[in-house]
Amino acid sequence: MDGIAETPAPAIDPFDVGRPELYHKDAWRPVFEKLRADDPVYYCETGRSGPYWAITRYEDIVRVDSDPATFSSSHLLGGVTLEDKSNVTFMQMDPPQHTAKRKSVTPIVAPKSLAQMEVLIRDRAAKTLDALPRGEEFDWVDRVSIELTSMMLATLFGHPIEDRRTLVRWSDTITADLDDPDSPIRTEAQRGEVMREFYLSMLDIWKRRREEEPRFDIVSILAHDPDMRNAPVEEITGLFGLFLVGGNDTTRNSMSGGMWGFAQHPDEWRKLKADPKLLGNAVSEIIRYQTPVIYERRTALRDVEIAGKTIAKGDRVGMWYISGNRDESVFEDADSLKIDRPNARQHLSFGMGPHRCVGSRLAEMQLRVLWEEVLKRDLEIEVLEKPSYAFSNLVRSPTRLPVRIKA
Ligand code: HEM
Repeated sequence: MDGIAETPAPAIDPFDVGRPELYHKDAWRPVFEKLRADDPVYYCETGRSGPYWAITRYEDIVRVDSDPATFSSSHLLGGVTLEDKSNVTFMQMDPPQHTAKRKSVTPIVAPKSLAQMEVLIRDRAAKTLDALPRGEEFDWVDRVSIELTSMMLATLFGHPIEDRRTLVRWSDTITADLDDPDSPIRTEAQRGEVMREFYLSMLDIWKRRREEEPRFDIVSILAHDPDMRNAPVEEITGLFGLFLVGGNDTTRNSMSGGMWGFAQHPDEWRKLKADPKLLGNAVSEIIRYQTPVIYERRTALRDVEIAGKTIAKGDRVGMWYISGNRDESVFEDADSLKIDRPNARQHLSFGMGPHRCVGSRLAEMQLRVLWEEVLKRDLEIEVLEKPSYAFSNLVRSPTRLPVRIKA
């Protein structure tokens, strides 16, 4: 190898907050604390998928998220993740196109649909809790968080309930990070195969729903929507993918995050038991504390200045919700779970602008019902170990949380 100089490995930037290891090892807090204090709009030159800006303070995140005329979600520019993706759903569109398309899915979370769903969700939560072992260890993530959210997802999709774990497998594969040593797939081609399997199954339900009377599942709602009925097939399947991931991982993670939060703050659990009226606020606080979606990306459409830094047209801009939710200038003692926090509802976990989460009410209801049913049974649940977290820079996902219910 004479004459060929070895290329030195690029130095790791300790402030590259796009590294999945940071969340896998649950080591993100001090990094963001330093960025918020010293360099809140940080340019990382060595990101896995190229350079990007990290926006880490609450106010700046709100500004970026609320200004789609300057910060675009468009799939033509790479979409909403640091890795450029060409998925086309309304999540990867800007107004006015976004506004019109988003309208077609809002009936799914209209008050009437939610009221119908609540009955079902409560019944399932009750049965799931009653079936848990007493006096022996089990995994809260698997037995409660995944179980309840996958049942909900099967209902949303009109997918057979007994086959709900297939939905979990699809969702976990679609979101898998290929650098994760435990990833269920190794290549993009394998991901493509699993996505095809999911899409074909959904399109089969779609075809049936078009011929049937309208129901309240998402497939039926889209199949009967005048605009979506004849939309290109990629747009339909893209939407199924969006709901699969949006409706599954995030709520699941809040169910696990809430359990871990109460384990770390037992006084807050006692406070809730003494005053269950605090539950509505507690749910918002759990979602703030957990921050199930770590960041979302935009692309700058023009040169723009934030906090003294000039972001150039075409630059990738990451809004780190996980950091904004721990911004001490907005949330006092931000690293603590406080169920009566006066401004818990101002959290950034659902985003803030025109793309604010469509499923927020449904997610909040699922969480409220779960904790209502736990309180009703007066379950004393002991967390036995810290959670393990997924290898992902996008979802903050506990993968295992061993617990025991006192017999
Ligand atoms: C968008 C978080 C549950 C469907 C989003 C966004 C976030 C988010 C951060 C992007 C916001 C932005 O870009 O400004 C969450 C969290 C959840 C949750 C933390 C649970 C705690 C759900 C559920 C559903 C859902 C249950 C479906 C039933 C969607 C959809 C969008 C979205 C369709 C795209 C909205 C748009 O682009 O206009 N969600 N989500 N989410 N979420 Fe959720």
